[in-house]
Amino acid sequence: MEKELKIPNHVGIIVDGNGRWAEELGKTRSEGHLAGFQRLKELCIYAQEIGIKYLSLYVFSTENFKRNRLEVSFLMNLFSTKFHSEFQEIMDLNMKIIFSGRKEPLPSKVIKEMEIITEKSKNNTGTILNLCLNYGSQTEILDMTKKISQEVLDGKIKIEDITLDTISNYLYQPLPPLDYVIRTSGELRLSNFMLYQASYAEFYFTKTYFPAFTNNDFYDAIIEYNHRQRRFGGNSREKKST
Ligand code: IPE
Ligand code: IPE
Ligand code: MG
Repeated sequence: MEKELKIPNHVGIIVDGNGRWAEELGKTRSEGHLAGFQRLKELCIYAQEIGIKYLSLYVFSTENFKRNRLEVSFLMNLFSTKFHSEFQEIMDLNMKIIFSGRKEPLPSKVIKEMEIITEKSKNNTGTILNLCLNYGSQTEILDMTKKISQEVLDGKIKIEDITLDTISNYLYQPLPPLDYVIRTSGELRLSNFMLYQASYAEFYFTKTYFPAFTNNDFYDAIIEYNHRQRRFGGNSREKKST
C-alpha cells in the first residue's frame, strides 16, 4: 500500500528569479514580477489544497530597497494594487493573511492595503499566509531584542523568565518553526530569511525561476521532503522508508 504523504506544517518559500526569468524571455523585469505575483497566488491556493497549515513567503527583503528606484516603485505599486484585486479570492477560500516585516519605510498605500487584508481575513481558519514584506531576519532579531529589553525595563518581564518561547512570541509573528524552506532560481543562500525560525528546517533548492515554478514542481519538493530524515540532534529511531 502507498504510504501517506507527510505534509510539512510550516513551509517557507524564497520567491526568487523573477528578473532572470523575464530577461531570458526578452521581457522586462516588471513583467517578471507580474508573472511571479500571479504564480504566487496560484501556489497559495494549491498549498492550502494539499494541507499546508502555514506558508511564509519572502516577497521583499529589507535589502531590496537598495534596488533602483523604478523597480522598487513598480513593486510597491504591485503590492498596493494586487493585494486588493488578487487576494480577494484567497480570502474567499478562507486563508488568513498576516505580514512580517517593518512598516517603515513602506509607502502608506501599501501599509493601508496590508491592514485591510489582515483585518478582512483575521477570522479565517484555513492556511495562514505569512507575507514577508520589507522583512529581514537580522532586523527582526534586533526589533525582538529591543521589545524584550523594554519589557524588562518596564518590569513586565524578569530576565530569568526569558525563554525560547518568549523569543518566539516577540518576533514579528508567533509562528511555529519552519519545517521546509524552498528557494527557487538556483541561489544557495538564505538572504536574511527567517534565520531563527529555520534552525532545524530542511532545505530545497531548485534552479527553476519562480514564475516557472509550477504546482507540480512544488509537489515534487514535498515528495523530496518525505525522503528526509529529521533528527533534531537526537538519535534516529525512525526506520528508513523502504
Ligand atoms: C524575486 O525576484 C523578487 C524579489 C526579490 C522582489 P528577483 O527580482 O530577485 O529576480 P532575480 O533574482 O533578479 O532574477
Ligand atoms: C531574496 O532575494 C529576497 C526575496 C526573495 C524577497 P534577492 O534576489 O533579493 O537575494 P540576493 O540578493 O540574490 O541574495
Ligand atoms: Mg533575486
